[in-house]
Amino acid sequence: MATRNVVFVGENILRKKSKPVKDYDESLWELLDDMKETMYANDGMGLAAPQVGILRRAIVVDVNNAFLELINPEIISQKGEDIEEEGCLSVGTFRGRVKRPYEITVKACDRYGYPFTVKCEKWLARCICHEVDHLNGVLFIDKCLDKDKYLKQGGKI
Ligand code: NI
Repeated sequence: MATRNVVFVGENILRKKSKPVKDYDESLWELLDDMKETMYANDGMGLAAPQVGILRRAIVVDVNNAFLELINPEIISQKGEDIEEEGCLSVGTFRGRVKRPYEITVKACDRYGYPFTVKCEKWLARCICHEVDHLNGVLFIDKCLDKDKYLKQGGKI
């Protein structure tokens, strides 16, 4: 395992759409191991592959000490609304409020390609939504209710 450099906002790669993972092989496992290490090294709650420069649909999350890897995640249903402050390892110290669904059901595969479904709420739901957005080139600052404040501080988009 190794930590990888986190790509920062302003870099074009963060705005691209990631491609589905097709091969559940050693290079995927190495990527996932490195993403986990990189997330913990930076005290993050989640990390998406494009944040380490890889345009593949893979994310890792850790909310309340429950580590999860989701490959090709798809949010298949959502319910309710919840507003909380978020941050992002690719954005730096800025934190701002984002409206997210309160509850989601997400379908994904594990690192061996086995499909599973998770129903979750509040912070885990928020974290997964945030990371899935990364796979579509979307950053939390795009949806942030405090975007004006971010821009006034000279924040990049
Ligand atoms: Ni992020």
